[in-house]
Amino acid sequence: MRPSLPSLPTSSSPRESGTDGKGDRVRALWWEQGALRAIDQRQLPRRVKVLRLTDVHGVAEAIRTLAIRGAPCIGVGAAYGMVLARRRGRLGSEEAARLLGGTRPTAHDLFVGVEVVQRAWEDHADVLEAADRYRSSVVQECRLIGEAGAPLVSRGARVLTHCNAGALATVEWGTALAPIRFAFREGRDPFVWVDETRPLLQGARLTAWELGQEGIRHAVIADNAAGHFLYRKEVDLVVVGADRVTRSGDFANKVGTYEKAVLAKENGVPFYVAAPWSTFDPRLTSGDEIPVEERAGEEVTSWGNVPTTPEGTPARNPAFDVTPAKYVTAFITPAGVVAPRELSTLLRQRRPSALSVRTRPEGSASAVPGAFDQSR
Ligand code: MRU
Repeated sequence: MRPSLPSLPTSSSPRESGTDGKGDRVRALWWEQGALRAIDQRQLPRRVKVLRLTDVHGVAEAIRTLAIRGAPCIGVGAAYGMVLARRRGRLGSEEAARLLGGTRPTAHDLFVGVEVVQRAWEDHADVLEAADRYRSSVVQECRLIGEAGAPLVSRGARVLTHCNAGALATVEWGTALAPIRFAFREGRDPFVWVDETRPLLQGARLTAWELGQEGIRHAVIADNAAGHFLYRKEVDLVVVGADRVTRSGDFANKVGTYEKAVLAKENGVPFYVAAPWSTFDPRLTSGDEIPVEERAGEEVTSWGNVPTTPEGTPARNPAFDVTPAKYVTAFITPAGVVAPRELSTLLRQRRPSALSVRTRPEGSASAVPGAFDQSR
């Protein structure tokens, strides 16, 4: 018999009483008594372990090893990592930014979160307040994505999603999962096909856990089963998150997204990408410019510490792939549902300061765009 999955401890911080009064919102991380608390996502669904991170090195390690993961959540975690660096006083702002910026190259949000706090630090402003404000803006944007995207999820709609783009990936609500959550709360009883998402199983471990927490109907499928269900017209729409979106609408997301997008188009199924502003990188035009993280081959050749291939088998392990804009029906943004061709105008209107490129310290993992416009 399978053990039942652990649920969130009702009395502790990961489950917050929401403003909507439902009291069932998952929170991936939060600040508590001078430390960053984060659900250790490597441990789910076996157990809900909450990390207590008290220095920037611990935060960097948590991001590198995917204890904290998902583009918006990485950005918020990194923002608090900068706060811890400032408080400890052992690293300068540029060193701390370089440390955090070197953890994972693809998620644009990481660099935005770092930069928001770095600016406050260098301006002698309150860094914790800057990080808190950044976290709140990400949470609020995900809520808006949920509201904007919910009408796309009709009664009983069957939604395919890839990886985990839920609250665990964004602090609260999610990006791809937010419209599904809202449709569920509005009584439309959606059903979710959850790609397992090899090699680290973010879909099977995390998305299934989140949906189970909320009672949303779902089934996990092997990654290579998605085409089968698309072809058989058992998928009404595909919704995924993103790690970086260029102004042309090309975007990077968890490896395997590209093939889902191509198959969706081939089968006439709408394909949506949900993302907050921090994921958009208006400096980039083409998806070819997005840095794609390649992780250790052992993630492919073993599970846990158990080998799944003959000893010494070589492997390649790109963590993301890039999907051209032509496969995207629309982006679900905090400003509404937007066609790819409307994106660059919208980005220019909403984030004018983001078009100016700030000079990075030498050796920084990636050039960072200009300001995250907090006045928005
Ligand atoms: O390697 P991960 O688990 O950090 O990858 C996460 C994804 O690819 C998500 O789909 C993406 O960050 C969007 S999260 C809202």
